[in-house]
Amino acid sequence: MSKQPSITSTQRVVDLLRRGEPNQMVKVQGWVRTKREMKSLAFVEVNDGSSLQGLQVVLDPLALPNYEAVLRDLNTGTSVTVHGELAASQGKNQRIELRAQTLEVWGTADLETYPLQKKRHSFEFLRTIAHLRSRTNTLGAVFRVRNTCANAIHQFFQERGFLWVHTPIITTGDCEGAGEQFIVTSLDLNRLPLTPGQQVDYTQDFFGQPTYLTVSGQLEAEIMAMAFSNVYTFGPTFRAENSNTSRHLAEFWMVEPEMAFCNLDGDMDLAEAFLKHIFRTVLETCPEDMAFFDQRIDNTVLATAESILSHSFERITYSDAITYLEKTDRVFEYPVAWGLDLQSEHERYLAEDLFEKPVIVTDYPKEIKAFYMRLNDDHKTVAAMDILMPKIGEIIGGSQREERLTVLEARMQVQDLNPHDYGWYLDLRRYGTVPHAGFGLGFERLVQFITGMTNIRDVIPFPRTPLNAEF
Ligand code: 4AD
Ligand code: MG
Repeated sequence: MSKQPSITSTQRVVDLLRRGEPNQMVKVQGWVRTKREMKSLAFVEVNDGSSLQGLQVVLDPLALPNYEAVLRDLNTGTSVTVHGELAASQGKNQRIELRAQTLEVWGTADLETYPLQKKRHSFEFLRTIAHLRSRTNTLGAVFRVRNTCANAIHQFFQERGFLWVHTPIITTGDCEGAGEQFIVTSLDLNRLPLTPGQQVDYTQDFFGQPTYLTVSGQLEAEIMAMAFSNVYTFGPTFRAENSNTSRHLAEFWMVEPEMAFCNLDGDMDLAEAFLKHIFRTVLETCPEDMAFFDQRIDNTVLATAESILSHSFERITYSDAITYLEKTDRVFEYPVAWGLDLQSEHERYLAEDLFEKPVIVTDYPKEIKAFYMRLNDDHKTVAAMDILMPKIGEIIGGSQREERLTVLEARMQVQDLNPHDYGWYLDLRRYGTVPHAGFGLGFERLVQFITGMTNIRDVIPFPRTPLNAEF
């Protein structure tokens, strides 16, 4: 008979740890984390990824026919199926344990070469074995929290009647106008077809025109909001910005709600309720993982999450932010002046030191923001909002959109955008235009903030950064 893992009758370790009862017959499958051999017994901890803690399995030579042979194989990393009976544990680290009646080894892991031994490894080292690092306590906890955040995001919007819309990954536009796009082409780069003027002849390319990986689904989300009122996107976005920092990825996930009949105040209210909902859900759903982050990664994460839930976010204008930054004795690397963009150090000063909580900065100078943001009555600023978090800086960027056709056309002209490329975007203003607003949340920055992980490369399974695209 061939060995076939049976999935249907397998119990998850997390469920057994929470609700398992003595005398219950169970089957678990997973990977050995640790093995302890006593004189007449052995203990192995089996982890199936469902929780931080594994299930303690007791191996008794009297109960297990192949005891000696099995025990030799049970190094860290070995995959096993265990059948047996749950029993109240004598040990103080767990309520319940599994007394094995049969134990089957699927694949062994060599003690000498398996890189994940019991000792603590640096995150830098773990990045070099990214195909194995999800089996560690920290990365396991990160990816469970990440999953809970994703679920909470869908739950938040679905409960409020928002439609999840799928915007294209391959686009022809540059939403943010920052020129940080990756080109998508099927041309042979060693033999590029050229026009008589020696430019690349994109009419011979796959789409007959230049195309890029999207930097944001916002403009397409606006199309959908003009039909469904409230929509959101949740998908990968790509930026070829050469920033080798702990907060930048070349491929990251973004959540972008877009609301028709909504102004900047409504946008900020939604963003605040949205973030609070995610924090609340993570605290309720992942208490063990969050306690782990608090103990092992950053001893402020639990207090920070609680404080976010119990305080309202500070809301200040960009002009006030500049005044605060000019008044402080703090020495910054980058200059502060009205008209200059806020740098990460300025953002962190506001959120971390001055207000000690999330800060929403509104009404930025129009010159430093994208063309689609709604011009304020002062004609100098636009209805933009950035949400700044302690330690991370900007986590959300959003705005009310320019819904007035003539004002939008004028703004596009100033920013040198060709109205022919944006005919469809202008049509939204020609036919049934309404005030509307939205924002984009950087999903990895959110997970970073919640878990206290210092490097963004450690909150996404397969990070893409300058000079790094493994897998
Ligand atoms: O502020 P951004 O550029 O806003 C937009 O793209 C708008 N179109 C969103 C909208 O209004 N619908 O990006 C939004 C967020 C940032 O606040 C940041 O959290 C995250 O995306 N982000 C990045 N995260 C990781 N790596 C990068 N390189 C990022 N660039 C932006
Ligand atoms: Mg931004």
